[in-house]
Amino acid sequence: MSIAYLNGEYQPLSEARISPLDRGFLFGDGIYEVIPYYNGKSVGLMPHINRMIDGLAAIEIKCNKSADEWKALLDNLIARNAEMGENLGVYVHVSRGTDVKRYHPYPDGVEPTIFCFCFGIKDPEPVDRTQVTQYSLVSTEDLRWQRCHIKSTALLGNVMHYQEGYSTGADEALLYNADGELTEGSSCNVFIVKDGKISTPIQDNQILPGITRRIIIDSIKADGSLSLEERTITMDEVRDADEIWITSSSKEIAPVTKLDGNAVGNGEVGEIWEQAFKIYTASKYDY
Ligand code: PDD
Repeated sequence: MSIAYLNGEYQPLSEARISPLDRGFLFGDGIYEVIPYYNGKSVGLMPHINRMIDGLAAIEIKCNKSADEWKALLDNLIARNAEMGENLGVYVHVSRGTDVKRYHPYPDGVEPTIFCFCFGIKDPEPVDRTQVTQYSLVSTEDLRWQRCHIKSTALLGNVMHYQEGYSTGADEALLYNADGELTEGSSCNVFIVKDGKISTPIQDNQILPGITRRIIIDSIKADGSLSLEERTITMDEVRDADEIWITSSSKEIAPVTKLDGNAVGNGEVGEIWEQAFKIYTASKYDY
């Protein structure tokens, strides 16, 4: 049985309850994280915690847990759920809390609601171009808000874009802004490869500063054998790319072989993907 954490208490997930006046429920007024653990070892735990602390500060939710307290809480939750499987994701959610009425401004004197639970995740994909799962994407204009760097629980814009892909049998939606520049996916970041060079959009308000994205950039730079640049990428470049990858805590680095029904590059998983995934896999637990 899955054990959840809700406001200081550990309890079966199926018994966890919040008020319908919680601002997370009414307004999507909260911040969340999804953190992977493989065989009890986390990937990017402190960067995830620090991103959440930054997100809470950005929307002025006062939650006075330190990064070390968060780490202890999440490690403890993983240990309590060990029987759920070897590979677990932890969902962490902090909303502004429960007010006595529905009223837009931030209320005073309200305690944040803290909710965390675990769920099973798949084994990592093999570092093998011939075996790895391939993804098919559709592209669509990014119609979300202008603060995509905040990992808000208000995900309707992302959900609607995801559904655009899902309803047509694609695995994800790849998004571009009004100037025809790549932003990210509806639940992931994006990298492209052309002539052996890896590029990904710069970190600004149009994308989530993905932890997987960060680990990929840092580990590839530390390794030194591949070229990687953060820069503006046009959709013409995306359509002309040899490789496209989507990245997230649940997908790690996933190769895309179809975009809008057309083959990406030669239609096969690329060699640079394999080299990059090898570098990432060798160092992901160091972050
Ligand atoms: N999605 N961009 C968006 C819009 C995302 O929702 C995510 C993560 C990412 C990748 O971030 P990270 O590498 O830190 O997981 C990029 C999570 C997993 C989700 O909503 O379930």
